[in-house]
Amino acid sequence: MLPKLEDLRTNALQELAGANDVKLLEAWRVKYLGRSSELTAVLRGLAALPLEEKKTVGGRANEIKTIMADSFAQKEIEVKRARLDASSGEAVDITLPGRPLPGGHIHPLTQTIDEMCDIFTSFGFQVKTGPEVEWDYYNFEALNIPQEHPARDSMSTYWVDAPASDKQRSMLLRTHTTSVTARIVESMKPPIRTIEPGRVFRYEASDATHVPMFHQIDGIAVDKGITMADLKGTLYEFARRFFGGDRKVRFRTDFFPFVEPGVEMAIECAVCRGKGCRLCSDSGWIEILGAGMTHPRVLERGGIDPTEYSSFAFGIGIDRLPMLRYGIDDVRLFYGSDIRFLRQF
Ligand code: DAH
Repeated sequence: MLPKLEDLRTNALQELAGANDVKLLEAWRVKYLGRSSELTAVLRGLAALPLEEKKTVGGRANEIKTIMADSFAQKEIEVKRARLDASSGEAVDITLPGRPLPGGHIHPLTQTIDEMCDIFTSFGFQVKTGPEVEWDYYNFEALNIPQEHPARDSMSTYWVDAPASDKQRSMLLRTHTTSVTARIVESMKPPIRTIEPGRVFRYEASDATHVPMFHQIDGIAVDKGITMADLKGTLYEFARRFFGGDRKVRFRTDFFPFVEPGVEMAIECAVCRGKGCRLCSDSGWIEILGAGMTHPRVLERGGIDPTEYSSFAFGIGIDRLPMLRYGIDDVRLFYGSDIRFLRQF
């Protein structure tokens, strides 16, 4: 039995030396280490042998099995390595540095919206959204802008065909996010503190400072005893956090049908610091928002008693803010998807 085993070992190792591709190697494995190999047969037959022989033959058979398995493992590595050799065209240079994948960025407008929402939520405002395709009612009527009101002309509107069942009601693309404020007043109970970011649409030609779709954030606070001082404090603190404490802020009266009184807020021009330059049309100031004490009729329409509650509201144009901050002189760059521009943020 023992000489037979030694022959087996010699033949196996000789054959293994010549098994130079993956197929031959697998055939060798089946023949010499597989379930129906000679070696397996010897190991199975051990039971029938007398005790002494069982020990010697069994011990050697197991040694040979280990030798063959180790030799096979080593040969396998050699064969696979040879296959990856440069000459075979399958070379892998594992020392090559990896190719970095281009990282994505958050769009500068989205960054601005996120930052504004962070500031207002830290004041206790909740972020709410509303539909971009809106009823005339929430965009105009509920905001104290009836049919034929001249304020409608200041916001050139994209009208949308309403479904047949709503023939009497007009649909549009909202011209300001104040439409969401109208919905909030109707659907929430005071105390209310919300901000409402989103897209708005105006039927206008594009140029360096106008695009037909842009972004706003409206906000409203409704509670007992809210005054103009709350409006000023909130918006002043927003400007301080967003632009930094060294920029002056100015409030002036303005008119919006849904507030009384109404104001506009401007910040000192970053370029000329108030002296006057092209960016600020020589005024030294850049207007960034409209605001005011919510008109009693707007609260009333929403089911809130204006003798019990008072309220301030505001609407901020978003697109201008990153322009002011980064010195971008054409708003269309935000909407052009030019990766060379966007990559900078
Ligand atoms: N909706 C106005 C606009 O688009 C801005 C505005 C002014 C919003 C006063 C307000 C506000 O909520 O109180 O020009």
